[in-house]
Amino acid sequence: MPAGRTPRQFFRPLAIGAPAPLREQPVRLERMIHFVPPHIEKMRAKIPAMINQVDVILGNLEDAIPADQKDAARQGFIEMARDNDFGATGLWTRINCLNSPWVLDDIIEVVSAVGEKLDVIMLPKVDGAWDIHYLDQLLAQLEARHGISKPIGIHAILETAEGVMNVEDIAAASPRMHGMSLGPADLAAFRGMKTTRVGGGHPDYQVLADADGDKPRVGFQQDLWHYTVAKMVDACASYGIKAFYGPFGDFSDPAACEAQFRNAFLQGCHGAWSLHPSQIDIAKKVYSPDPGEVAFAKRILDAMPDGTGAVMIDGKMQDDATWKQAKVIYDLAELVAAKDPEYAEIYGI
Ligand code: GLV
Ligand code: MG
Repeated sequence: MPAGRTPRQFFRPLAIGAPAPLREQPVRLERMIHFVPPHIEKMRAKIPAMINQVDVILGNLEDAIPADQKDAARQGFIEMARDNDFGATGLWTRINCLNSPWVLDDIIEVVSAVGEKLDVIMLPKVDGAWDIHYLDQLLAQLEARHGISKPIGIHAILETAEGVMNVEDIAAASPRMHGMSLGPADLAAFRGMKTTRVGGGHPDYQVLADADGDKPRVGFQQDLWHYTVAKMVDACASYGIKAFYGPFGDFSDPAACEAQFRNAFLQGCHGAWSLHPSQIDIAKKVYSPDPGEVAFAKRILDAMPDGTGAVMIDGKMQDDATWKQAKVIYDLAELVAAKDPEYAEIYGI
């Protein structure tokens, strides 16, 4: 017996009257998921001006919201969802984790009030497919009750050791799965990693060059997150969902933030979180493909109109596989250009 639902059952609605699950996730530009603390009125007031600056706005109800502000954050999110027209910009919320005292109200109140406007729910501390199945069923019941016309997506945070072990099952758990983000802070704590940083490298995690007489030995800092990002990207790509790098906590080090975002981008991630306004532009720069790469990709696509064969461009061999690589970059450039006139001009698209 297969462990999951049969292929035919997989795409059936989980409640009578719930919208049919999507066969494919909508193609959307999601270079940054911008976090907003919805209990703070001053922050909510900035939303109208922010909508055109970011790809996704997320009202955060979980960590960083004090326990005595959880209800205010939930009500603030409902208010900001009601009061604004988000257009093509995604509207997400991060709910509290499933064993918390707040999560049931988060789900029921938010979906009842603004479920029609909500694109994605970010679920923290996902350990396995069972967490997704629970939210999947509950969302279907609420969608049916409130006559919601499009299914709300689920985005998991990969931030427990058990979650990393079960990453493939999580990716495969439901047609609602939009994608997942690496949560380096919780993951470091769960694993017992000895770092107080939120993402990025660590000066002590390095490889030491060989000894050469009395010469000083050089240490090369390594990427602490390489293994997890790679594992997440493979699981997500295999199941047709999207991988994201999560938070970078040191707002005073934009260069390190950019490097971390870029490593994830090169490895296959689609975006990262912005926790501070300064990180919006960093994410935009990193997750919009480099104009030189876009121009080169276009040359490959033009040189091989049907995507087969072999050609040389500037001494570099191109074939069916590099055509596919070029298409990844050019398709992304088109998506960016459609949203951002500034990039449309740079890319000449
Ligand atoms: C994000 O939620 C993290 O724990 O890094
Ligand atoms: Mg976390």
